[in-house]
Amino acid sequence: MLKDSVPHKTRGTARKGLFISFEGPDGSGKTTQARLLAERLMDSGLKVVLTREPGGTPVGEEIRKLLLNPDFSEMTVACEALLYGASRAQLISTLIYPALKRGEIVISDRYLDSSLVYQGLAGGEDPAKIIGINFWATGKLLPEITFLLDLEAEQGLARIQKKNSVSGAGPRVNDRIEQRGLDFHRRVQEGFLQLASRDRKRFFVVPAEDKPETIQAKIWDKMQKILKQRNMLPPDPR
Ligand code: TYD
Repeated sequence: MLKDSVPHKTRGTARKGLFISFEGPDGSGKTTQARLLAERLMDSGLKVVLTREPGGTPVGEEIRKLLLNPDFSEMTVACEALLYGASRAQLISTLIYPALKRGEIVISDRYLDSSLVYQGLAGGEDPAKIIGINFWATGKLLPEITFLLDLEAEQGLARIQKKNSVSGAGPRVNDRIEQRGLDFHRRVQEGFLQLASRDRKRFFVVPAEDKPETIQAKIWDKMQKILKQRNMLPPDPR
């Protein structure tokens, strides 16, 4: 069933632009890498839209507050899945799809694989249901490439704790998802690797314990190949 979890037939929809997602466990450094890639692409003269999930739109950012609020420990996984799907539906129709139609590059810090993993494989909700919600929410639009930053759960959580404790404003309260235990975060890491092993064409797995510059170099190398295939490399200024 998982084998069919990814809507292959829609890969390449909105062909004019290029849709890229970053995935990985909490603390894996996706946000930094998504930003570095966006900056590098823009420096090359390409038009880039950088967004994040949950959020990325005014409506989505409000949904994000609900989802990450540590006071709502009673929130069910089904409720979570629907809220993530709702935020995604808004993001797709008002930001991602229009940008792809204009021929731009869209980079999303998390996308539907996160729901499949956090609410499905790690969260215990039926993956088929998560897929159903997300097919509806996204019109089955999938990224052309997904960079998966792979990191052991222990290391990811340790990085988050460190980041929180060095913040000058005193310790930040972990968000609702970060507060889950180590077992949950282990299932998250395994879940992502499981998805990647089932779709080697879309996923590019990068070990995330390396230095940010090393990770960036691997991502940029892959990215250049894709841009070349897609004839999106800007003309050489020389
Ligand atoms: P965020 O602070 O953005 O964490 P990160 O930098 O690790 O992305 O919070 C997003 C949290 O929401 C993160 O713990 C993963 C979780 N999440 C889901 O559970 N399902 C989803 O579909 C998405 C997009 C995120």
